[in-house]
Amino acid sequence: MSARIINGKEISDTIRREIREEVERLSGRGIRPGLVVILVGEDPASQVYVRNKAKACEDLGYHSEVVRLPADTTQDELLHLIAKYNEDPKINGILVQLPLPKHIAEKPVIDAISVDKDVDGFHPISVGNLMIGDDSLLPCTPAGVIELLKRTGNSPAGKHAVVVGRSNIVGKPVSMLLLRENATVTVCHSRTPDLPAVARQADILIVAVGVPKLVKRDWVKPGAVVIDVGINRLEDGKLAGDVDYEDVLETAGWITPVPGGVGPMTITMLMANTLKSCKRANGID
Ligand code: GUN
Repeated sequence: MSARIINGKEISDTIRREIREEVERLSGRGIRPGLVVILVGEDPASQVYVRNKAKACEDLGYHSEVVRLPADTTQDELLHLIAKYNEDPKINGILVQLPLPKHIAEKPVIDAISVDKDVDGFHPISVGNLMIGDDSLLPCTPAGVIELLKRTGNSPAGKHAVVVGRSNIVGKPVSMLLLRENATVTVCHSRTPDLPAVARQADILIVAVGVPKLVKRDWVKPGAVVIDVGINRLEDGKLAGDVDYEDVLETAGWITPVPGGVGPMTITMLMANTLKSCKRANGID
């Protein structure tokens, strides 16, 4: 039997409707969530992402600011701008689009963002809060993966989740979130011997490595839930995930397509984080 498709666009639309209802309620009290996105330089992919984030803000009725800085902006100039937005009451979320130009170090920039406005969930304190299970703003793509699982009735509790990839942006935080949701979690990576054999143990297989079509049907236990976080541009211009979708389709029980699976969830979770930060700033929980 063919796998059931996890439609990230549909789930994302549902969450955005829920967010919009809350934004309307807040608006009646004179409260409006606000997000600033800061882009340094002219990376074409980043420009598309930033436009999409601003559009999501407009669609949901958020206050939205986009700051486009030239590629030769200094680290100090960027840090000063972040300090200004840390103090700006109209702004609940600050996102500095990555990657940054080479002459700017990522770490001091991420560290400079107020933890309360860290809607990317990349600040070391946010990461620490996630680790110990305290309330924090969660990184958007991992939070989106958990929403996809829960909203399709695939709760991680009691399941064996195998995460392929150990990046700070996806692999590590999604592992922590799965553990928090009471899964048994195995994290594997390029140095893991016999990756297919480990992956085959998974009830829930999460793949985030950036290698197109790495995962074949012999990596997948029949009926498993397969979540593909990869977005890779092929030579023919088409997009492919880290999972060989066609090959795995008949073996998996559930699968996310690329595009249209995890992708649409990331900006939606950014919007959810900005709303959460706004509610907190106004003493609403
Ligand atoms: N560049 C690619 N993905 C992301 C993301 O999730 N956040 C930021 N800040 N930059 C990115």
